[in-house]
Amino acid sequence: MCGIVAYIGPKDATPFLLEGLARLEYRGYDSAGVAVAGRTGGIKVRKVKGRVADLAAAVPARFKGSTGIGHTRWATHGVPSDANAHPHLDNAERIAVVHNGIIENADELRAKLAADGAVFRSETDTEVLGHLIAAHAAEGVELEEAVRAALGKVVGTYGIAVLDAEQPDRIVVARNGSPIVLGIGEKEMFVASDVSALVRYTRQVVHLEDGELATVRADGFRTFTEDARTTHRQPSTVDWEIDSYDTGGYEHFLLKEIHEQPGSVERTLGGRLDERFATAHLGGLNLDARELREIRRVKILGCGSAYYAGEMGAQLIEELARIPAHSEPASEFRYRNPVIEADTLYIAVSQSGETYDTLAAVQEVKRKGGRVLGVVNTVGSAIARECDGGIYLHAGPEISVASTKAFTSTVVAFALIALHFGRIHDLSPADGRRIVSALKALPDQIREVLAQSDAIAGLAAEYAGSEGMMFIGRVRGYPVAREGAQKLKEISYVHAEAYPASELKHGPLALISPELPTVALVPDDELLDKNLTTLGEIKARSGRVLAVAHRRPEAKLADHCILVPKSEPELDPLLLNIPLQLLAYHAAVALGRDVDKPRNLAKSVTVE
Ligand code: F6R
Repeated sequence: MCGIVAYIGPKDATPFLLEGLARLEYRGYDSAGVAVAGRTGGIKVRKVKGRVADLAAAVPARFKGSTGIGHTRWATHGVPSDANAHPHLDNAERIAVVHNGIIENADELRAKLAADGAVFRSETDTEVLGHLIAAHAAEGVELEEAVRAALGKVVGTYGIAVLDAEQPDRIVVARNGSPIVLGIGEKEMFVASDVSALVRYTRQVVHLEDGELATVRADGFRTFTEDARTTHRQPSTVDWEIDSYDTGGYEHFLLKEIHEQPGSVERTLGGRLDERFATAHLGGLNLDARELREIRRVKILGCGSAYYAGEMGAQLIEELARIPAHSEPASEFRYRNPVIEADTLYIAVSQSGETYDTLAAVQEVKRKGGRVLGVVNTVGSAIARECDGGIYLHAGPEISVASTKAFTSTVVAFALIALHFGRIHDLSPADGRRIVSALKALPDQIREVLAQSDAIAGLAAEYAGSEGMMFIGRVRGYPVAREGAQKLKEISYVHAEAYPASELKHGPLALISPELPTVALVPDDELLDKNLTTLGEIKARSGRVLAVAHRRPEAKLADHCILVPKSEPELDPLLLNIPLQLLAYHAAVALGRDVDKPRNLAKSVTVE
């Protein structure tokens, strides 16, 4: 959700800014802009509605400076336009600001600043920051002091980078709810809202904490708090591979990430299976067996696909550990004054570790004294840091807006949690061994599904023209149906609904027609006969059926079938989901969609 980059050093800032913005474009892509200072004095700004490529085309060759900031935007306040694109300047064009987050008291600040003579040129909340910092940047005041004083008047969330035409030897950055990472180079410094923009230049990074600011100069940085106390931050080393940030020969990041799943699942499992005791080792939970036995209930919190992965997780925990478990959208939970019980374990799920609604839900649970674990992909992210313990997915960076490999790794992480809890409770060693060997088999089974990509592309082309699609599954299959519908709608814009197969006859059967095909999850488990009956009901209403199954249903029950290798019943949902990712991907390609950057969406929703 919006990307920030900044550079200070001996080189020209512009190439890094443009390259960094292109890498961050998955976070927001409706407008982009850069500002540079240095050499010739004053600040130069270019900003355009559209993609980073449009910005690069609009930046002239003479646009150079040794200090610069840049931004790629996902609109919250004001439509995407040249005027609303960042950076924003004060009227004297001395201060330039880029900002992620939301200034909640922007209207009030805008009215005061306008009364003092500020002329506003955009509809954004960010513009107030430029005017406000300029108002504090009087003669002889250091930029960091002006920024600190201005932020003292601001209510809201922000990650910002500030450039001052009169002090071009520094950039001041601040973080409150929206990430800022400093990248340490050789006599040069980089800043970004996310490490993906930095890894080509440096592996040494410092993640700012909420409420922290930094003055960044070419030869180093100083961090301090909002009340001017100096903080001491040790750099950490980024361990994700550089090629994770390239499409690596695939047409899209999404396809690459779908194909990376055998490896990402192996990493999620890596070193965590204990064959001797038929359980999982999860040291990061920070809970011993005695504490775990006291847990009576598990509540899983996440948004979007993370919430659906949580639904699969809840099912796994109930089945393997026999502990009541439930997944709820974090975005709802945080607003409903939830009852927090001492014997409930809360688990927050997030790929980015930044989703504001999930972070707010974690903070609400903690404020009321609850215990929260995180199932998170991004190491050191806000949600990971806020939790009392947890599991990192190690899925690697996920660049495409739609989540695929992180989703699968989340479900694998829940299988490990369920196995661990189960073996502390009443899951037998034999059942433990059954799950351990099924988990080990997953990467190869995923490869088998991926090998069907071309055949699935053929089916996708056939179904993509439909006016909508219904996704159905029973019990374990229902979260698979929900995630399948989510993936299809977000990247292909084909309307998709998910229903429990058992609910079809209670209403949605009325929708069934040849124009609304159904994707049906038909695992070979104890509910197979029930699912086949539902297929019969759909076919009797002239519905078309694409079955995702372990065994091909009779021709009269399904028009097409994708066969998936059988795991243990508890883990089948993981494999049943993979063809649905490919179906959504190929449908989106067939319809000519912008697969990695679907309209209206952005990766990491760091606003409310
Ligand atoms: C769906 C998707 C979103 C995210 C959701 C939570 O493909 O990507 O629904 O799953 O915004 O994001 P994280 O997991 O980063 O908290």
